[in-house]
Amino acid sequence: MNKVYKSITSLFGAALTCMLVASCSSDPDSSGVEYMPDMYRSPAIEPYVDYGELRGRVHADVARSQSALTPPAFTIPYYGTDSKEVELMLPYQRKATIAFAKTHGLYADDLLITEDPEVEYRAAAEDKNPIALTPANSEALFSSGKTIYSSKCAHCHGEKGDGEGPMVKSGAYSGAANFGALAIADGQMFYSIYYGKGMMGSHRSLLNKKEIWTVIHYIKKLQNPNYGSDAAETVAADSTTVK
Ligand code: HEC
Repeated sequence: MNKVYKSITSLFGAALTCMLVASCSSDPDSSGVEYMPDMYRSPAIEPYVDYGELRGRVHADVARSQSALTPPAFTIPYYGTDSKEVELMLPYQRKATIAFAKTHGLYADDLLITEDPEVEYRAAAEDKNPIALTPANSEALFSSGKTIYSSKCAHCHGEKGDGEGPMVKSGAYSGAANFGALAIADGQMFYSIYYGKGMMGSHRSLLNKKEIWTVIHYIKKLQNPNYGSDAAETVAADSTTVK
């Protein structure tokens, strides 16, 4: 009996030593053998992770595929508690015409079937920029407008807004509006940037409403260098015109 007991303990001892030795690693970054790794590492599905390669194993069928899904239509992003900011995140109330679906690949929720394809564009002339331009904030607004403009618009419209961006100069593309010769209302600029117009694609998936209204202030600055510098020209925000 004693013999059996002894061999059992030595077997356990040997197994324990093996486990201890095997759990060590010379790699200083390695955590060694983990007991129940799911307790340390969240098995939750995370957005923007390539699940095609998990712990060194490649699953060709899902590799490089998008893990984050497009949010459902009318999803409103959480944008803090400032009611003005929140209002700017609500869906744009003007609808696109059916023609835009064919040419600009818009979603079904944007569609408005109307006999006059320009009815909403014309009505958009009434929409005022909900972001007030004041002497206090104009510098910051123009600076963020310029950042957006340089990365999303200047390659077509040109740094100065003359419609001569590198894409146009290369001969690959033509027709980008020259803002110097453009006389349309702010709301119509918004409509065209949001839904696209002619050869210009829709920017609704690239910029939110706040960013579009900000870049519109910058376009107006390109059109008129005095825009926003004269107190009399300060653009009043009218809460009833937030679109
Ligand atoms: C791929 C090139 C391209 C890019 C990028 C582009 N545009 Fe345009 N844009 C055009 C073209 C072409 C037109 C002329 C459309 C027409 O009148 O048919 C235009 C027209 C416009 C107009 C006049 C719309 C109207 O109703 O007449 C505005 C304002 C404008 N773009 C602003 C922007 C802003 C702001 C950006 C960046 C967020 C931008 N565009 C990005 C090509 C582009």
